[in-house]
Amino acid sequence: DATDKGEFRHYMMKEIYEQPKVIAACLEGRISDNKVLTDCFGVDSSFLKSVENVHIIACGTSYHAGMVAKYWIEDLANLPCTVEVASEYRYRKVAVPKDTLFLTLSQSGETADTLAALRKAKELGYLTSLAICNVPSSTLVRESALTLLTNAGAEIGVASTKAFTTQLTALLITSIAIASEKEALSAIKEAELVNSMRSLPAHIDEALKQDVAIKKVSDRFANKHNALFLGRGPMFPIALEGSLKLKEISYIHAEAYPAGELKHGPLALVDEDMPIITMVPHNSMLDKLKSNLQEVAARGGELYVFADKDAELQNTEGVIFTEVPKVDEILEPIVHTIPLQLLSYHVAVVKGTDVDQPRNLAKSVTVE
Ligand code: AGP
Repeated sequence: DATDKGEFRHYMMKEIYEQPKVIAACLEGRISDNKVLTDCFGVDSSFLKSVENVHIIACGTSYHAGMVAKYWIEDLANLPCTVEVASEYRYRKVAVPKDTLFLTLSQSGETADTLAALRKAKELGYLTSLAICNVPSSTLVRESALTLLTNAGAEIGVASTKAFTTQLTALLITSIAIASEKEALSAIKEAELVNSMRSLPAHIDEALKQDVAIKKVSDRFANKHNALFLGRGPMFPIALEGSLKLKEISYIHAEAYPAGELKHGPLALVDEDMPIITMVPHNSMLDKLKSNLQEVAARGGELYVFADKDAELQNTEGVIFTEVPKVDEILEPIVHTIPLQLLSYHVAVVKGTDVDQPRNLAKSVTVE
């Protein structure tokens, strides 16, 4: 029952812990042993063969999910993809290249700006509109040509958690489907990706086991007024999402930057009062990120690093290391989201804020 907090003190924590289950529900019926099923959008997915571009539109946390998908779509399907917040898109002149897929992301399916963007897009000659949404009866689902439901179940906490990770799961399914229909992906690679996706719920479960360790770390944040989140590649949108979560429920001012931008300005902010939170992916950018971290450490900044064992990072003076399960690179943005959700939750609890109903915010922004 969605309205029952069960053993949890807050809906947000209940929803964080539901993630292994709801991600499994999101995958259910969408993938087979070795491929994404061709009927996962409710119609034969061969319409994706004509897609030449993708425009993704969303707000808030859903927008961050879209930003991750840009990396996946360009990488796997080799198609140009743009991502924009709905409140900007709806009021500007938009150039739509031929055969562009219009993709909206929304937990509620009732966000005013996202709905207005969809209505505008209908006049602009897109190939078709696809909504990735959590509420089957929503206006967004009713008004979009195609839908992929995220199946996260009701989300009550204002700070979105399980809606985000199921959106990412649905976006990965979509990216693989596009890549497969565009023949940009070999059958072997598709089977590998699908196989990795099947292990997602177990990896999320494992990531949740760091809850106690993260709770300890969160005590150090309670008296901070600012925080800086850093990430590279698809971890940059995850850094943005981590900073949004912290802002929303703990009221700590937080910013996120692509780690490579550090020297272009934000490094000036770094001193002993500025915690820096970073998700270290285990990919070719690891060494570059490590050198960014050294720059921070050299200026006395306190570093909170989330990385897997193989990154070979340890707790040292000024570096607080939390282990994240080692997963295939494609899954890293989803799995690395979990510790950031837990961190913002525990910081908010220490600060005594209203976790499920933060001041000034509504669950669904149905007016401009
Ligand atoms: C997330 O924690 C927020 N409360 C908010 O940014 C939210 O994601 C945004 O308002 C979009 O909502 P939607 O997904 O229901 O469209």
